Amino acid sequence: MGVAIEVTGLTKSFGSQKIWNDVTLTLPAGEISVMLGPSGTGKSVFLKTLVGLLKPDAGSIVINGDDLVTLKEHDLYEVRKLFGVLFQDGALFGSMNLYDNVAFPLREHTKKSESEVRRIVLEKMDLVGLSGAEDKLPGEISGGMRKRAGLARALVLDPEILLIDEPDSGLDPVRTSYINQLFIDLNAQIDATFLIVTHDINSTRTVPDNIGLLYHKHLAMFGPREMLLSSEEPVVRQFLNAQTIGPIGMSEEKDADELAAESGQELPPLPPIPLQLGTSDGRPRRAAKPAGEWCRAHGVTPPPGSFLSGNAGVPGVSQSVEVSTALGAAT
Ligand SMILES: Nc1ncnc2c1ncn2[C@@H]1O[C@H](COP(=O)(O)OP(=O)(O)OP(=O)(O)O)[C@@H](O)[C@H]1O
Ligand SMILES: [Mg+2]
Repeated sequence: MGVAIEVTGLTKSFGSQKIWNDVTLTLPAGEISVMLGPSGTGKSVFLKTLVGLLKPDAGSIVINGDDLVTLKEHDLYEVRKLFGVLFQDGALFGSMNLYDNVAFPLREHTKKSESEVRRIVLEKMDLVGLSGAEDKLPGEISGGMRKRAGLARALVLDPEILLIDEPDSGLDPVRTSYINQLFIDLNAQIDATFLIVTHDINSTRTVPDNIGLLYHKHLAMFGPREMLLSSEEPVVRQFLNAQTIGPIGMSEEKDADELAAESGQELPPLPPIPLQLGTSDGRPRRAAKPAGEWCRAHGVTPPPGSFLSGNAGVPGVSQSVEVSTALGAAT
């Protein structure tokens, strides 16, 4: 029921190009974590390494006591069944319609009858708002629909670990809100461990239990949401608040002259930490903790206005609307 992933000293390069070095973090069982980072810092490579598609140069990835890095191919195949993965490009088979794409893992990994496959496929397609699009080919639908079809496929095996690469790229803001709500509801229902890669700061501030930031070939920080959202660490602060002042430049790092030109410029104050987004049916979130608990426990004063009700997350998502219906509307 949701497993922890313990990553220790993970290092990856392609030839002489070092991607990241010595990444150490634990994705807590059953919690939602978000990984951020400038484009090209290796977030997608990180997901592919976690699922065993890419071999790291060093380090370990331990799940249920097994180190994926050293597992034999046969055992790795078994461990992979724990994972549902939404790749950044959706990775759908172009010649198969959406129904067959979503059914693929069931036909590949289980002995379920076609009627059982049909029940599961239609249920998951409904969940992501794609009912009625079963016969469409990936080339005939919008990018956002391809994302959602990829998500339906990632869900069919009831995974214990969901790795989701940029679910919101190509989605409009309203559907991004609905997909965020879907993740939170799913997390409460199926108790999977989630790792979501996103560039969406609004989602990052309200959806996860934990946040990580990959920057300049290393993991700059990983920890509870409140820790990152109250952090004064320059890179974390700049990235989580989408500011131009700070060490991150247009092409990764600013040089000394650029940084000198900024010295003395005052940083805008940290914005209030919003409440975490709740489930749509009011049931508690799997890893729910009282708002402000981390700050209190660590003697950190949160920015003024933090944790006020009415400040809860992505605005405009009606708590009573059926997520699947709304996702599917007007596509
Ligand atoms: N199979 C591969 N072989 C060689 N280099 C690769 C391979 N896959 C990725 N890279 C390189 O690794 C680096 C990190 O790529 P990655 O796709 O993980 O970035 P990212 O953080 O996901 O970026 P974005 O936010 O744009 O999706 C890039 O320089 C990329 O060119
Ligand atoms: Mg990527």
